[in-house]
Amino acid sequence: MQIHPTITTLRKALANVGRIAFVPTMGNLHDGHLALMHQARQHADVVVASIFVNRLQFGPKEDFDKYPRTFDNDCARLREAAVDFLFAPDEQEMYPAPQRYVLEPDSAHTRILEGAVRPGHFAGMATVVLKLFNIVQPDVAVFGKKDYQQLMILSNMVRELALPIEIVPGETTRADDGLALSSRNGYLSLEERAEAPRLHRQLLRIREHILAGEQDHLHLETEAMADLAAHGWQPDYITVRRRSDLQTPAAGDSLVVLGAARLGQTRLIDNLEI
Ligand code: PAF
Repeated sequence: MQIHPTITTLRKALANVGRIAFVPTMGNLHDGHLALMHQARQHADVVVASIFVNRLQFGPKEDFDKYPRTFDNDCARLREAAVDFLFAPDEQEMYPAPQRYVLEPDSAHTRILEGAVRPGHFAGMATVVLKLFNIVQPDVAVFGKKDYQQLMILSNMVRELALPIEIVPGETTRADDGLALSSRNGYLSLEERAEAPRLHRQLLRIREHILAGEQDHLHLETEAMADLAAHGWQPDYITVRRRSDLQTPAAGDSLVVLGAARLGQTRLIDNLEI
């Protein structure tokens, strides 16, 4: 695997390599990321990954400073997954001056759910992804469904800005007990880790009820929030939405149920398509 810390050397290396599939990450790679790398391989001649913890998408009280940085281990895992190129810039390379041009995604998409709890997060995320797209110039980019709202916003960005990139969604990888794999799971204590699959179980329960014909989504959402709260969680939302734009669904829409809740100091998110 070639490792490139600079835009200039990466661009040179990627000239004439054929079809490029790209998987951007913030590192601390787990099996979920690796599954995205394998998926990327099916779409292109070469796979490019990036590792960059993007300050722009963290709020002032969020975990930018303590976000786990595990570069050597990440490189070993990327080599095992036969990734061809890694772009690993430092902050100076990505933001040599304060980033004054930022992308503001549609507020209908950013003021809800994660955007309501994390103001500015999606502008920072979309800005770095657009910049990474300009650097790597991929044909295909793979993003996990675990960050469902991120995937929806990026699919819209690519369409509305006419970027010649196919966005491929990757299924969420789960531990045996159902917990969605996430770099932030490492923050959980042993006791919290045992409790953490409850979020997934509540989403499964809602999905089962809806598939069985239940139409009172609010009732299901309220019950799930109450169960989480009763077990020591601080839920931000559990909500059934339309898949395409994550707005309130109408009859006949394809649905997804999304949840976010804090367990101790750790904020977990998850979702299930229905
Ligand atoms: O999903 C992530 O890890 C990040 O939001 C991304 C897409 C790498 C942008 O920093």
